[in-house]
Formats: sequence, C-alpha cells, structure tokens
Amino acid sequence: MKWGEKSRVGLFFCLGLSLSSFADDLIKPIPLQAVSNPQKAALGKDLFSDPQLSKDGTVSCLSCHNLAYGGADSEAVSRGVGGRSGSINAPTVFNARYNLAQFWDGRAKDLKAQAAGPIVNPVEMASTVESVVQKLSKDPKYQKRFREMYPQGITIETISDALAEFEKTLVTPNARFDSYLRGNITILTQKEKEGFELFKSRGCIACHNGMNIGGNMYQRFGVFAQYKDRYNTLGRFNVTKQGEDKYYFKVPSLRNIEKTAPYFHDGSAKTLEDAVQKMAYYQLGRKLSKEEIEKIIAFLRTLTGELPKNVL
Ligand code: HEC
Ligand code: HEC
Repeated sequence: MKWGEKSRVGLFFCLGLSLSSFADDLIKPIPLQAVSNPQKAALGKDLFSDPQLSKDGTVSCLSCHNLAYGGADSEAVSRGVGGRSGSINAPTVFNARYNLAQFWDGRAKDLKAQAAGPIVNPVEMASTVESVVQKLSKDPKYQKRFREMYPQGITIETISDALAEFEKTLVTPNARFDSYLRGNITILTQKEKEGFELFKSRGCIACHNGMNIGGNMYQRFGVFAQYKDRYNTLGRFNVTKQGEDKYYFKVPSLRNIEKTAPYFHDGSAKTLEDAVQKMAYYQLGRKLSKEEIEKIIAFLRTLTGELPKNVL
C-alpha cells in the first residue's frame, strides 16, 4: 500500500499496533494564548468583513467564513460574486494557523500566502489586486492605519499580512476535550469517553491527530474503496504533479466539526452521521454500527471550543 510511506498511518496498520495504548499523546490541546500582532489583527478584522475586497462590493471573506458559527458557510460548495458557484467546500478558518498548509490541496504554505487567493478567484471575490489596492487606498478608514503599521503602505502583501494576523487570532481553545487532555478527566461523559476509545481503536486517529485532530498530513480519499468516479478535483496532485498524489487531500481538522456541515471537499456528506459512516467505509474498510457512530459523534462534539472574544 503506497500511501503508507507518506505518514505514520501505514506504520500503524503494518505493525498492527494497538492504537489505544499511546494514542492519547497524539492529540494536543490548543494553546490558550494565540500570538498575533494586535494592531495588525484589528486592521485585518476590518478587511475580513469588507466587501470592497470583491469585484462588485457584494462579497467579503465573512460571506463564506461565518465567524459567528463554524468559520465556514453552510453550502456544499461556496458561492461568490454574482452567485457563481465554486466547485469545492469552504473549510473553516478557525484554527487554520495550526494546519500544515492552507486549502484542501495545500497549495498555499501559510495564511499570508493564502489571503490573496480568494480576492482574485473568479468564483469567489472575482477582483484584481490592482483594483483592491486602489479602492482601499482611497478609503480614509485605511490610509492612516496602513501607513502607521507598514512603511510600504497599502499593497497586496500588507493586506494579506493584516488578514493573516487577524486569522491567527481565530482559534477556539478550551474545548471540553482539551480540558480532558489537561487532566480534567471527569469532564467527559461515559459515552464521550467510549467514543474517543472507538476513534482510537477503529483507526480514525491514524489520520486525524495532532493539535487540530487533522490538518497535519495529506491522505488519499478512498483508501479501501474507490471514491474516484465522484472526485471533482485531483487534490494534492494539482500542486505536486506527482501521480501518486492524485486524490490526496489535506486531512481536515475535526475541531468544531459539529458546526461545519456539509462535509468533505465536495460537500457531499450532509450530516456527521453520513461523514463518519463514509470515513469508516472509504478510509478504513469497515462498517460501523449505529451505536458506534453515535458514540464517535458524541466524542466529536467535545471538540467544540470557545469562540475568540474579538469576533463575539
Ligand atoms: C465565495 C466564498 C469564499 C470567500 C469570499 C472566501 N473564501 Fe476562503 N475559502 C473558500 C473555499 C471554497 C475554500 C477552499 C478552497 C480550496 O481548498 O481550493 C477556502 C479556503 C480558505 C482558507 C484555507 C483553510 C484551510 O484549512 O485550508 C482560508 C484560511 C480562507 N479561505 C480564508 C479566506 C479569506 C482571508 C478570505 C477573504 C480575503 C476568504 N477566505 C474569502 C471560500 C471562500
Ligand atoms: C486514511 C486517513 C483517514 C482515516 C483513517 C479517517 N479519515 Fe476522516 N478524513 C480523511 C480525509 C483525507 C478527509 C477529507 C476527505 C475529502 O473531503 O477529500 C477526511 C474527512 C473527514 C471528515 C469531514 C471533515 C470536513 O470538514 O469535511 C470527518 C467528519 C472525518 N473525516 C471523520 C473521521 C472519522 C470519525 C474516522 C474514523 C471512523 C476517520 N475520519 C478516519 C482521512 C482519514
């Protein structure tokens, strides 16, 4: 199985190790403090909700990344300027700073590199760098603040930098599961604990681990069964052009997962039940009972953290 070379997953399966014994170490709580430059983050916050970043002034980052809810939208695939549909599901911006790269295929190395993407994407904000720089340069609300923080003034780099500083504040610490990891073992119910045990023993944790319970590796979607005829993108292959990377995607974070339906890069799973059942089938070659799925979902709901104060 080729994909085994790429990560610890193969190792786990090949050696037949019992994941439960050491899996607790594989998930880490989110740090309570998110380091970011406060002035730049405040500027980035205004930019994040500013529709001037789109071609016709109708769409802001917030349109597809609703911060009052899961940091995503509730569409299978996002709609941008003029209601045009994209082809891919919007991931959450919460805790994105802790992902190994940005986008489903990891084509942006970090938040700053990601930020200009949606502005010029024809099915998202459909604008141009020149037009956005020009519009913001005429806006008295921004002129002084940019000048104070960035000697080079308003450019796509400084816009992206401020957006990224804001996004670095978008973390959701103190999920009940994080308290559990920090030693408060009575905070989870029996059912939630059993769900976590299943998450480990059935193998979910092989791919969904680390601080974001995901976000730290690329894996094929469709390991034990072909998902192929339904793919609408080649995934990681788009970036690396290596045949073996076809249909590999960044494993998504499972934090706040109860708030970001629908699921998968194509938005095809409408509910968590559906997503978990399909994961077991495609990724692990198993069928889970209804009761097992319910327990795993009870565990997944303990991954919902606190919203950052600056967005409430
Ligand atoms: C029209 C909807 C839409 C708008 C507007 C939009 N996004 Fe997104 N965003 C998406 C979609 C869809 C993806 C996934 C695209 C992909 O992976 O190819 C995404 C991905 C991201 C990611 C990557 C998250 C991850 O874990 O991979 C970040 C960060 C992000 N957007 C931030 C922003 C910022 C900042 C803005 C405003 C400048 C913005 N988005 C505007 C729909 C949108
Ligand atoms: C072999 C690696 C692997 C294993 C094992 C695995 N997953 Fe996943 N998981 C993925 C990948 C890759 C995706 C993204 C699929 C896509 O949309 O392209 C994903 C997506 C998900 C999603 C949807 C997330 C979102 O935001 O859309 C959920 C929920 C999920 N997995 C839960 C689980 C559960 C529960 C298990 C165990 C039953 C599990 N996964 C096992 C790799 C894995």
